[in-house]
Amino acid sequence: MVEQPDLDLVSHPVGQPAPAQELIPEQPTLPGLRDAAAGCQACDLYKTGTQTVFGEGAQHASVMFVGEQPGDREDIEGKPFVGPAGRLLDEALEAAGIDRKRVYITNAVKHFKWKPQGKRRLHQKPNAAEISACRPWLDAEIALIKPRILVLLGATAAQALLGRDFRVSLQRGQFIERPGLPLMMATVHPSSILRAPDDESREIEMQAFVQDLKRLAQRIKGS
Ligand code: URA
Ligand code: SF4
Repeated sequence: MVEQPDLDLVSHPVGQPAPAQELIPEQPTLPGLRDAAAGCQACDLYKTGTQTVFGEGAQHASVMFVGEQPGDREDIEGKPFVGPAGRLLDEALEAAGIDRKRVYITNAVKHFKWKPQGKRRLHQKPNAAEISACRPWLDAEIALIKPRILVLLGATAAQALLGRDFRVSLQRGQFIERPGLPLMMATVHPSSILRAPDDESREIEMQAFVQDLKRLAQRIKGS
């Protein structure tokens, strides 16, 4: 008798890249997940990104930060939030008394999406299909780290977890409960502070960001 492939294991069309869900090890560890994600081709962004930029941080972190996607520096170094936005995040964490080494930091989408502009690589917002293709990696990170609180940095992360109608501007800094997910807080993306039109508004936005992170620090302490 001819051996038939187990069709339950092959839910995607033959010859097509496997969805991220099918790459996740049965009993994942953090290094195991990272290795599996390194080979992900579940959306077209692997073609333009240099490498998968997986999350990084403490295995038992009580707080997980979720950004949008790696930027130019992150794409080259293979680590999240190591460029200009990362430096601003570091500064804000320090001002709020949160130790970066004790949190876990990742992104909603794990490859850099960009288009050429002269010699520069210009950041492009990931679309809904790319966010959803990459979601299994984020879900696996959440399942493994089991953070008590998820901090959603900017609209992409917030809408990925709270839905397309969520507006960071209206609900930033509030704690939000949703079934099946850790407690969440959405706030601005550090890049939005870098884009402030002048020093004064940048200073004001930075203060507000630090304020949100201080509420987070209070909440972590209070538990
Ligand atoms: N912006 C993000 O959303 N994530 C990074 O890792 C860097 C910049
Ligand atoms: Fe896979 Fe996410 Fe990269 Fe797309 S962006 S190829 S889903 S790791």
